[in-house]
Amino acid sequence: MVVAGLFAGVGGFELGFDRVGHRAILLCEKDKQAASVLRRRWPRVRLHDDVGTIDELPSETEVVTAGFPCQNLAMAGDKKGIEGRKSAVVNKLFDLLGRRAVQWVVIENVYFMLHLKRGTAIDTILERLETLGYRWAYRVVNSRAFGLPQRRRRVFIVASLSGDPRNVLLADDAGHASWPGVDTARPMGFYWTEGRTGHGLTGDAIPPLKAGSTLAIPSPPAVLLPSGRVVTPTIEAVERFQGFPERWTSVLRGRAGRHRWRLLGNAVSVPVAEWIGRRLTEPGSYDDAGDRPLTLGRAWPDAAWNIDGRRETRRVAVGVTEHPVRRRRGRISAFATEHWPDLSDRALRGFTERARDGNLKYPLGFLDALEANLQ
Ligand SMILES: C[S@@+](CC[C@H](N)C(=O)[O-])C[C@H]1O[C@@H](n2cnc3c(N)ncnc32)[C@H](O)[C@@H]1O
Repeated sequence: MVVAGLFAGVGGFELGFDRVGHRAILLCEKDKQAASVLRRRWPRVRLHDDVGTIDELPSETEVVTAGFPCQNLAMAGDKKGIEGRKSAVVNKLFDLLGRRAVQWVVIENVYFMLHLKRGTAIDTILERLETLGYRWAYRVVNSRAFGLPQRRRRVFIVASLSGDPRNVLLADDAGHASWPGVDTARPMGFYWTEGRTGHGLTGDAIPPLKAGSTLAIPSPPAVLLPSGRVVTPTIEAVERFQGFPERWTSVLRGRAGRHRWRLLGNAVSVPVAEWIGRRLTEPGSYDDAGDRPLTLGRAWPDAAWNIDGRRETRRVAVGVTEHPVRRRRGRISAFATEHWPDLSDRALRGFTERARDGNLKYPLGFLDALEANLQ
């Protein structure tokens, strides 16, 4: 299929789609550093720098991808919602679709958008799609199901004018998964920058990568290894945590290199994009027998669909989990962690002090193991 990639970042959607034979003809990205990665990776594709100044999508476009900015929708953001200045830019997508109809639309954003302000963001997006005549399905997908050692839940929305988006997004299901628990016998990922109200502890994987600050100050997770060392992943490991090949963003060197963390934290996990890309051309078959109406006023479910275009015909996709597939589990233990740098004493001390002060529960021996690293 012919793809227009809006809000393309460092190309998570585009790389995944590329791998299954789709072809980008237009990329759009405002951030200079992200744009230089795109230019390096897709030198022959037209790169536009602002979605607001695109008049029309190319007439050949068959799919539009849009992982639009999440700063106003994320738990770690300002929580202004879909009306917030950054996230409202998604309206440009709908303006473009209004001017030229495109058969398929694939949108991605943070899980928290289902809950922030009672799900106003997801409601607004779905309503805009319905108004434009699209059938839609959405689903929370966890990157971990795709073999990445990262816990990352994101909402994916697939919409189509005449195809059935349920057969793309909902037809595959591997059921509930049980992930490794947190104990000191295996690597444990956590956010050393937190400690008081959250910690993100994850067994043999890292908590969701974050974009860090707008000043490009990296916000990496830390990992307590079974050996007792506390380390932070290298940037090449972070590329792998998102399913990119190592050095995908290496065109950013010197001072620009600091931006790699932020851009990778923002990206769509490549294998998830690849799965959606494949299902666009080889749809599965979704059985809606057990589904029920989506009742307004209740919490938004993790998966839903609508193929009749009216608010009343929205349905909850009952029983659809966040694991479309179950690939061989990616483990931190498979990385060359001996080359990962140690977390600084200062960072470690700050975290353990906050943790000891706060009321959060930690696995037995975890804080002691961290403190044993302090000089
Ligand atoms: C969540 S990120 C998308 C990441 C991307 N899907 C990837 O895999 O790397 C949102 C992107 O939208 C870009 N953006 C924000 N406003 C924009 C605009 N007006 N025009 C084009 N891109 C914009 C941001 O710079 C950011 O890279």
